[in-house]
Amino acid sequence: MQANVWTRAAQVPYDRDNAGPPATEGRKEQRNMQDTSGSGRAEPAVVLSGVNLSLGRGAARVHILKDLDLHIDRGEAIGLLGPSGSGKSTLLMVMAGLERIDTGSVVVAGEALDALSEDALARFRGRNIGIVFQSFHLIPTMTALENVAVPLELAGLDDAHERAARELAAVGLSGRRQHYPAELSGGEQQRVALARALAPDPRILIADEPTGNLDEGTGAEIIDLLFAGHAQRGTTLVLVTHDPALALRCDRTVRLRSGRIEAVPDGAPAGAKP
Ligand SMILES: Nc1ncnc2c1ncn2[C@@H]1O[C@H](COP(=O)(O)OP(=O)(O)OP(=O)(O)O)[C@@H](O)[C@H]1O
Ligand SMILES: [Mg+2]
Repeated sequence: MQANVWTRAAQVPYDRDNAGPPATEGRKEQRNMQDTSGSGRAEPAVVLSGVNLSLGRGAARVHILKDLDLHIDRGEAIGLLGPSGSGKSTLLMVMAGLERIDTGSVVVAGEALDALSEDALARFRGRNIGIVFQSFHLIPTMTALENVAVPLELAGLDDAHERAARELAAVGLSGRRQHYPAELSGGEQQRVALARALAPDPRILIADEPTGNLDEGTGAEIIDLLFAGHAQRGTTLVLVTHDPALALRCDRTVRLRSGRIEAVPDGAPAGAKP
């Protein structure tokens, strides 16, 4: 399910107008200025309402997400915790429009995902969602630079390679542009994956245990880069982790158990907003 996110033919990311230069300061302010909600409050990044999802066939069918409600503000960082099998990755796939729900509604960046065709969904994803996985998912036959340039080329940007080079520099990998994934360490591969996810300047960055395959020190570097990308660009961050200390670096923690949102630390209604 996850392996071909970056290789799906239909993925044609974002409009040119929406693609600012990479890794620049002040982007958060620009985004806020573009808010046309008229309410004086930015539109939420993610609103899940009454979401149910089952996967598998016959006896193997599993009711994974159960009556989920979740509201994530634009620019917020959410730490998503929960036992193995509780539905964290599935929830991320739903937010990314990679998994369609059975009942309920999913609104991301103001767009009701259920109403979109597969092609429209792919375009939406390219414009709005960056994804980082535990196991990197780089394209092995492409160099680091080419991997980062993929979403930019799909968007038709003339300067895809120049922008990709800047994104690689932002994660400290200028010296590894021409390396293939197999010639990079795990930490370097994850930096490339992060640069690729951030290159289109997505509204929402989704990270599924991004340090799960890395040693502690390397993982900490990736996390610092992840939070730096979130802070500098105003990108909403949804981070799945098994590390409660890491989740505490987020603005808010959401805990899943058996497909339901369990609790938040301050005792407020789980996943709910006032
Ligand atoms: N395609 C599928 N068909 C049937 N069941 C599935 C499918 N994908 C996931 N599941 C089941 O859904 C449940 C939730 O899976 P998910 O991968 O979302 O868990 P998770 O919280 O991310 O776990 P982990 O921490 O181990 O990554 C699991 O019980 C899993 O077996
Ligand atoms: Mg998972």
